[in-house]
Amino acid sequence: MRKAVIAGNWKMHMTCAEANEYMAIFLPLVAQMEKDRSLVIAPPFTAISSVAQITQSSAVQLASQNVHWEDKGAFTAEVSPVMLLEHDVRYAIVGHSEPRKYFSESDEQINRRAKSAQTHGLIPIVCVGETDIQRDRGEAERVIRRQVEQGLEDLDSESLIVAYEPIWAIGTGKTCESSEANRICGLIRKWIGKSDVIIQYGGSVKPENIDELMGMNDIDGVLVGGASLDPRNFARIVNYKVA
Ligand code: PGA
Repeated sequence: MRKAVIAGNWKMHMTCAEANEYMAIFLPLVAQMEKDRSLVIAPPFTAISSVAQITQSSAVQLASQNVHWEDKGAFTAEVSPVMLLEHDVRYAIVGHSEPRKYFSESDEQINRRAKSAQTHGLIPIVCVGETDIQRDRGEAERVIRRQVEQGLEDLDSESLIVAYEPIWAIGTGKTCESSEANRICGLIRKWIGKSDVIIQYGGSVKPENIDELMGMNDIDGVLVGGASLDPRNFARIVNYKVA
């Protein structure tokens, strides 16, 4: 049985003060969350420590928005897995399309980050997904398969989450049809060759589409950007109901 993982990625949003205000509204709304799902939030690094304190006795688990492959060293602007563990971080997002695009992250670097996360007991959330041009050219499956093969090389599938995030659906309001998202998540599962690996969908997930997405067989959770910034919207997503 794969346990659903609902994750909010705050990206470069939320000061510590804003995170405090958010949690005052959010935590009571998720206090009765069903036990068949996990709830994860990825704050910016500067807010991790204060979010960890406020959420200590709640169901919220923490993710980082990146992780480096070395434990320490001369890597300006990077964060080490050891530093994250000190704040009870359990997951690390790697290979998100934004660092892939803005900082030219390669599949090889993403793989090193994910391996380092696993070595330290963090669960990597490895993001994959095609651009609109790649989809229009009929290259989506080939691109995603390459990202899966190179990005997940030698990873332990038992301590892994893959997020299928079509880039054209991120922050655009254009959600991928749930049947198509489900089809790609199923293909990723087949390529990995392990039926129990957790595969999320991400890209304009919102209260209006969460119930349908979570009703799909191969979608084991969601990675939510914009809609996770509003505590009421994100609570509705966390408390999704499958008909
Ligand atoms: P979005 O972002 O929900 O705002 O589309 C998703 C993501 O970037 O993970």
